[in-house]
Amino acid sequence: MSEITKKATKPVKSIAVLTSGGDAPGMNACLRAVVRSALKHGLEVFFVNDGYRGLVEGDIHPVIDRNFVKDIINRGGTIIQSGRLPEFAKPEIQKKAIQQLKRRNIDSLVAIGGDGTYRGLLALSKLGVKCIGLPATIDNDIASTDYTIGFDTCLNTICDCVDKIRDTSSSHQRCSLIEVMGRHCGDLAVFAGIAEGVEAVITYDYKIPEDEFMNDLRELEKKKKHHAIVLVSENLLDIHELAKKVERETGFECKAEVLGRLQRGGKPSAFDRILASKLGNHAIETLLAGRSCRVCGVIHNVVEDIDIDEALAMPRDRKENLTKLLDILR
Ligand code: F6P
Repeated sequence: MSEITKKATKPVKSIAVLTSGGDAPGMNACLRAVVRSALKHGLEVFFVNDGYRGLVEGDIHPVIDRNFVKDIINRGGTIIQSGRLPEFAKPEIQKKAIQQLKRRNIDSLVAIGGDGTYRGLLALSKLGVKCIGLPATIDNDIASTDYTIGFDTCLNTICDCVDKIRDTSSSHQRCSLIEVMGRHCGDLAVFAGIAEGVEAVITYDYKIPEDEFMNDLRELEKKKKHHAIVLVSENLLDIHELAKKVERETGFECKAEVLGRLQRGGKPSAFDRILASKLGNHAIETLLAGRSCRVCGVIHNVVEDIDIDEALAMPRDRKENLTKLLDILR
């Protein structure tokens, strides 16, 4: 190795890390990987409290040592808080964030969150900050990664809930309509629908006409099936109204259950902890390799990084569509 190569300065010296958007199990494991990997490479590390709000208001603190992230790999939520800041789209707010980073000589930012988080990073990259985005949301609605951190844990939580509801649903020969999260993405409903072998799934992209749906439920009696589980994506319809309609039109006693925010909590699965650890480490390796304005993800089981604007423009239908399985197996 030549003297010049040996003495070459690192492309980054100090990083700040934040979590943003809806929290997701595995955010802590990801934070831990970012912090430990950065410290290992001799970088100065700061954490930002409460996402972009903390960045704008200067709620930024040095990480003294690796113990800051001890005992958090198994904890749900995020120890550095998370939130959404729609005002961050305004250039004057972005400039405040830049001033806060400059004041502390921070040259790089790693943000753990969803696509709203990525848009904030794109704006900051254009203003000269070296940015890396890491995908963490239960919704799995980020096209540039096969799986987001938190999706697997949430999916398992949903399956656990559906198993419990199924016990009572079958004992009472009822139809249970269960609303699951996902914002505008049906992955949680579809994946849980396959894992639970449910009677029907209703999402933005995957619906059956209402008369067909009612008919399918009526036909269940003939198949000697006396209860039914139906998963419905949130923000799509009023499941309490749908339950009344099912009762009127099918003869089934029907109950609506909204799983709500319990889906976002709980300790991360082993899959999410490992995914978070791989991505957190890759973020630092990407910066050290001199690349920025990138997001990391897993594509066909390989950890990769791509430009943020390319990631934001990626179509979601690049991912495997599992609805065919629902059609065949239900
Ligand atoms: O993006 C994660 C998510 O849980 C979505 O599934 C849901 O639509 C939204 O956040 C709810 O956010 P909040 O808890 O802020 O109401």
